[in-house]
Amino acid sequence: MIKRNSLFILILLLSAKYIAAQSFITSKSNDRKIPFNENWKFHLNEEGTDTLSKASDWQTLNLPHDWSIERNFDENSKAGIGGGALSGGLGWYKKEFTLSKKDSGKKISILFDGVYMNSEVWINGHYLGKRPNGYIGFSYDLTPHLNYGSKANEILVKVDNSQQPNSRWYSGSGIYRNVWLIATNQLHVAQWGTFVTTPLVTEESATITVQVDIVNEYKDNKDASITHYITDNGKKLASAQSQTISIEANKNKKITQSFTLKNPTLWSVKQPHMYSLITEITVEGKVVDQYETPVGIRSFKFDLDKGFILNGKSVKIKGVCLHHDLGPLGAAVNTRAIERQLEIMKEMGVNGIRTAHNPPAPELLDLCDEMGFIVMDESFDIWESSKTTFDYGTEWDEWHKKDLEDQILRDRNHPSIFMWSIGNEVHEQWSERGAEIGRELSAIVKNMDTTRLVTAGMNPPIHVKDAGVTIQFEETAAEPNALAGSGALDIIGYNYAHQTYKDHQKNFPNTPFIATETSSALATRGYYEFPSDTTKIWPLRWDKLFTEGNADNTVSAFDQVRTPWGSLHETTWKIIKKYDFLSGFYIWTGFDYLGEPTPYTWPSRSSYFGIVDLAGFPKDSYYMYKSEWTQDTVLHILPHWNWEKGQTVDVWAYYNHADEVELFLNGKAIGKKRKEGDDLHVMWRFPFEAGTLMAKSYKNGKLVKETEVKTAGKPAKLQLQADRKIIKADGKDLSFITVNITDKDGVLAPRADHNIQFSVEGNGKIVGVASGDPTNHQSFKGKEHKALNGKCLVIVQSEKEPGAITLKASANGLETSSISIISE
Ligand code: GAL
Repeated sequence: MIKRNSLFILILLLSAKYIAAQSFITSKSNDRKIPFNENWKFHLNEEGTDTLSKASDWQTLNLPHDWSIERNFDENSKAGIGGGALSGGLGWYKKEFTLSKKDSGKKISILFDGVYMNSEVWINGHYLGKRPNGYIGFSYDLTPHLNYGSKANEILVKVDNSQQPNSRWYSGSGIYRNVWLIATNQLHVAQWGTFVTTPLVTEESATITVQVDIVNEYKDNKDASITHYITDNGKKLASAQSQTISIEANKNKKITQSFTLKNPTLWSVKQPHMYSLITEITVEGKVVDQYETPVGIRSFKFDLDKGFILNGKSVKIKGVCLHHDLGPLGAAVNTRAIERQLEIMKEMGVNGIRTAHNPPAPELLDLCDEMGFIVMDESFDIWESSKTTFDYGTEWDEWHKKDLEDQILRDRNHPSIFMWSIGNEVHEQWSERGAEIGRELSAIVKNMDTTRLVTAGMNPPIHVKDAGVTIQFEETAAEPNALAGSGALDIIGYNYAHQTYKDHQKNFPNTPFIATETSSALATRGYYEFPSDTTKIWPLRWDKLFTEGNADNTVSAFDQVRTPWGSLHETTWKIIKKYDFLSGFYIWTGFDYLGEPTPYTWPSRSSYFGIVDLAGFPKDSYYMYKSEWTQDTVLHILPHWNWEKGQTVDVWAYYNHADEVELFLNGKAIGKKRKEGDDLHVMWRFPFEAGTLMAKSYKNGKLVKETEVKTAGKPAKLQLQADRKIIKADGKDLSFITVNITDKDGVLAPRADHNIQFSVEGNGKIVGVASGDPTNHQSFKGKEHKALNGKCLVIVQSEKEPGAITLKASANGLETSSISIISE
């Protein structure tokens, strides 16, 4: 029954190649952390009963893995529509592996970046522990229970996501983040054992201070010498003086070293320069552990008058909130998929990410470091008072301290993190108990990191009575916010309540401002009319808001709907833009996410709040932000140009770098418009006529840019575009292929919804399909998908074998099309 996992042995051997006789005596930074994702066995019981002993149907798979994304959408799923209408259940994972005899004497632990949820772990029948929180990283020491040589080891993991509902959004289920084996000498840097700060930063020099926690798990005392140095692209630049310490058996010791780096390249949003700090432990002249900490050097403050200052310069935080799912890939972490999301955000001009509402995948933070985002790292959506029946509230007492500490410990070296959020809209915010918990959590954070600010998303922080404005909030908002006044927070976090921002300095004279969450405007990509399909309309209770008009909603052929608690996109940005003391905001949300289709119900199963849809296609407001936030020249017109003859249409243009825009319909000038005051768009209203609508922007009378939309004829073709035509042959990399349905001349058919069939040949496979339609119930893991408003997405993943991959797309009545990409 026990099988050797030869691949694993190979990895271990390779990792120990530099010291053939004694594998793992030295643990070099790159080799001490070994991916442990391949060849797991998985068994699911959707009902949630514990049937391990009877399980015979084990599926072989690689992690990260989200079993819920593979299920069918189900109106009656216990997770509810809020949870994405995809069911949970109880899953078992196991993996067999062998270790070389040479590895005995090493310290070997297993690190899970995140398991949703209630995981329990065994090694060779020994119980290691449980972790209820589905978003936290955790590790177990395997060393005392391991077999070496031919006798195999077995890791067994139980994942219980059967008690539903337990989340307000789609959580995913399973070991959905990476798993690692950490193999070190018995004398080693502790798990997440370094803390790097840069107390003094100027352009001329930076002081680098590192605190390191060193563990001696030998049975005798050890003398070791500890060295730190900083590298830039592998080049050693500066180092701390090496220090010799004695550590008693089975004890740990924390030491601090400081040194100076001359002329540092500072980390910024535009140029996020990263260094590496290397910790080296030497015993009797031999390096026994080497640990790498990526480091970014920057200074910042939140100023009461000037807002956020990074390296001495004002930077407005133009952030978005992101949930952790990756659309059609579900919660299963894939670095390229996260990177693509961040690239799409960067291109819009976004410079901040809020990890709503939980600790994110470590890969997201690494990418934020490398790409330059201002991160608000959030811990909890719930404290002791639950929001759904089986959520974290039930675990609060036992786990919140440990979970928060582990999050700070894991994340505190990321230069991209500037704020810790200890909670989102927690029920306790209105009560003294909320103030008390807030102070407790803030103290936990401060005990581990005083270099960032602590905040929380509150709705709203200010007593509505004091705000002097009418806000449509829940009734609770009428109470004073005890958390805001508790002294626990270094920066006041506003969820919505944009009407109160201008008075922040009056209401909170001593505490800076951040809008933790704003807008929540609803939109479906490519929809502009009042929809006749009732699944897409705002419920009756609220539809007055736009049929009768409201101050914010000036769009008649609208692409967005305002929520009572939020605003249209332009409204909040205009306020944030206007006042320097408003440090910035995090818009709800950058991308649509699975679950929470508020205010709609079934058949909707994913959210409408994104600036970009679930497939990664921008909605129109994307270009409003892009015109405001980037140096790129933007001229974007909406809507599409397929309407009824004579129908009155509002045409909008978002533009920059120009003072006016002229519109032409079939060559005939419609008129010039320019933005006045704080306008963010211009608009024309006139009757539709088929043909070409062209816009030209001018600066001082000179043409800056032109763009056009054309009336599409009958859908005829499929046009395929890959975001990358060359991908890595590593079994993980992805090519995101956009499918456009066009007429015979290549004009996008803006209402085409053909069901498209996909097939792939060569060394790749289809791992996801999506269209951005929140009401589509076809599987994201299928080989066919209906387009939404002319567009569809298919995601192709490489195999480990390099070679060509050809994707073919076909649909009834359309010309078949294919595209080839290379995996190398
Ligand atoms: C907020 C909440 C978010 C999301 C959003 C929808 O109140 O913090 O998680 O539910 O509303 O508008």
